[in-house]
Amino acid sequence: MPTPTTLAVQIAPQRSTQYADLVGDLAVAEISASPLRHRASGFALRDIAGQTYVTFALSEGPLSGADGALLASLATLGNAFELFEALGGVEGPLLRPVPVSYPHLLSPDIAAVRRYKGKTSELFTLFMCNVAKFASAFAEAPWRDLRVFDPLSGGGTTPFTALSLGAHAAGVERERGDAESTAMFLAQYCREARVSVGVREEKLRPLAAHRWRLRVGREKEDPRACLIAAGDSALSRDLLAGFGRPHLVVTDLPYGIQHDAPLAELLSRCLPAWAGMMEPGGALAFSWDSTRAGRDEMAALVEDLSPLRVVRDAPYGDLAHRVDRVIKRRDVIVARAG
Ligand SMILES: C[S@@+](CC[C@H](N)C(=O)[O-])C[C@H]1O[C@@H](n2cnc3c(N)ncnc32)[C@H](O)[C@@H]1O
Repeated sequence: MPTPTTLAVQIAPQRSTQYADLVGDLAVAEISASPLRHRASGFALRDIAGQTYVTFALSEGPLSGADGALLASLATLGNAFELFEALGGVEGPLLRPVPVSYPHLLSPDIAAVRRYKGKTSELFTLFMCNVAKFASAFAEAPWRDLRVFDPLSGGGTTPFTALSLGAHAAGVERERGDAESTAMFLAQYCREARVSVGVREEKLRPLAAHRWRLRVGREKEDPRACLIAAGDSALSRDLLAGFGRPHLVVTDLPYGIQHDAPLAELLSRCLPAWAGMMEPGGALAFSWDSTRAGRDEMAALVEDLSPLRVVRDAPYGDLAHRVDRVIKRRDVIVARAG
């Protein structure tokens, strides 16, 4: 029988204490939701020489290449090590590096380099993409097989994150300038990174809307589709015509600081449309300022307005965290489609 391996995975180092608190709060949740949970147990946070690690025992160690890719795609975790309390008479803790790397289609920098007011942290966006995938029937599918949709996409953090992982990506944003600049930024980024890109602008006259369809990658290399539409999210189904049903819907609801919209009204208008578009077995993840509406209230709203079912098992019921002095508490709901 293979001996269990104990692993220590470093919490992604953050320059700002704001993000450091965020990753500390969410790291155990992210890894314990991942497919590693089938082989891992005893997730805990541990301080080793002033750095915080998530430690756990892996029943069938050591890590495979696929495990390494999974770890490298997690938002909140960085370098991974095998942990020994003592080795050959030498007192521990001792850490042996294990290789982790993810084959990004585009550098994750694409979601990091754009800076603007009202942006959702790229780290948190990747976290939401991951927990939505882990809760779905596609938890173990390669990102390349998935379509990710952000129905309130602002400046494109979610589509950029999904593309960097290799998925097809779409976004709907009502501010036309934001949608257009997102599409232009992606095209420019690809050109500078020497990734083949094609852009086509389309007018959707009956909807009084515009959209930009991008092809990322060469035609013969299974290119990724990215569709950015300017319009009202309640019309998402028509705005995304031709993109295919999203497997994952990931979004950060307006906060009322930059964007003022009563959340219940927005969800009443839009959630039935989002849920109706999703691939069976897919999952929705959204975050909101939970000082404005509590978790139970939001979960009830989701289940009243749509056939989606909120995931309440650990760790999904406990994803609330502090963001900064303005957003004192943010929470995440993950819900499954049929
Ligand atoms: C919190 S922001 C999303 C930010 C985005 N994740 C990013 O990083 O850029 C919410 C966005 O929802 C958009 N929005 C609000 N109501 C909308 C609607 N009915 N249809 C489309 N977009 C809407 C706002 O304009 C805003 O850009």
